[in-house]
Amino acid sequence: MKFSSRLDSDLSPARLQHALDQLRTSGTPLVDLTRSNPPQCGLGPPPEALTRALDVPRLADYSPDPRGLLSARQAVARYYADRGLLTRPEAIFLSASTSQAYAELLKLFANPGDDILVPQPSYPLFETLIALEGCRTVRFPSYYSAQAGWRIDERAFERSFTSRTRAVILVRPNNPTGAYPPPDQLSRIQHLCAARGCPIILDEVFFDYPAEGFTTLAVQGEDEARGLTLRLSGLSKVVGAPQLKLGWIRLSGAEAAVRGASERLEFIADAYLSASTPAQLAAESLLPARGPLQARIRERLGENHRAAGQAFGGGSHARLLSREGGWYLVVHLPEGEDDEDLTYHLLVDDNVIVQPGFFFDFPQGEHLVLSLLTPSAEFAEGVNRVAERIEARASR
Ligand SMILES: Cc1ncc(COP(=O)(O)O)c(C=O)c1O
Repeated sequence: MKFSSRLDSDLSPARLQHALDQLRTSGTPLVDLTRSNPPQCGLGPPPEALTRALDVPRLADYSPDPRGLLSARQAVARYYADRGLLTRPEAIFLSASTSQAYAELLKLFANPGDDILVPQPSYPLFETLIALEGCRTVRFPSYYSAQAGWRIDERAFERSFTSRTRAVILVRPNNPTGAYPPPDQLSRIQHLCAARGCPIILDEVFFDYPAEGFTTLAVQGEDEARGLTLRLSGLSKVVGAPQLKLGWIRLSGAEAAVRGASERLEFIADAYLSASTPAQLAAESLLPARGPLQARIRERLGENHRAAGQAFGGGSHARLLSREGGWYLVVHLPEGEDDEDLTYHLLVDDNVIVQPGFFFDFPQGEHLVLSLLTPSAEFAEGVNRVAERIEARASR
């Protein structure tokens, strides 16, 4: 049987996954600092809210629209208006998750063999989503300084363009660094992309989760009248309900570019009609009710961030990198430490699951990534074990 070469020919689990499978099979209790699924962390919409959201007579109708139900798009448009981004419902396309939106946008802009620019470090699934469209991932780096936090290396960004570049992905705030590209930098990047006729896919799934002290970053309503910007988000992060499978694309930019992209995107969306009616109807009542849902998530993120601060307090060989937002915390390991080996030993010796930095394409093997969504007691236990193990290895 011949299979597509879009998939890696070796799908066998790596050493870490193998060890994890064995521990799970043997029933060993594990402290999991990788969970980023709100319902599994007690942070999804309450069952009554979901039942109410789905208990609507219109559930019996099916009136498909390639862009999604007008009433659901109006709810998404109001979500942006609340952020200061005036939005017409025609500028919104609904899809079955943000991941599905990527598949549609890559079909819209790229042919097999084309290049897509992606931040480094960033969300590991980008490479897979791009490879599944037969395209190539080209990374542009960000660098970190204690004073300025994370900044995109703009020179390297410019150099990463090739004759086959068809789209740029930016993530605000980035996963896992939690950095919001500053408005001046975003604006320069938008100018550059507009000049090259290259669209920006602006992934804002974590936009509503600024860290304490960074809340002003989540009110930037700026929009760019040139080029083409496609903002992505969805219910999985905005209301903590990934099981509803609803994402969206919001188009903005130069009129002709928006029109050309919308016509073609409508054709692609029509071929799949991927957004489910129940999910769209649920969005209409859950989006306006997002305030308390997001507040609970932000509270958990803040509490766990503080617990990590204590675990890695004075004298620790590791340090926590500054986090402006998002659901993750990055630990910078002592020089010479190996993230993969440490992750393996945390798993088999301390029974704590963490993600090594290399999953996210950190250039050196010196970072761990912790999910701050983890239930607080479990997080405190896990982060203390992680800090102790790092100290023990640093003083070997
Ligand atoms: C940056 C980023 N984009 C997109 C997604 C996928 O979101 P969805 O659940 O809507 O497919 C994730 C999931 O964690 C993510 O971290």
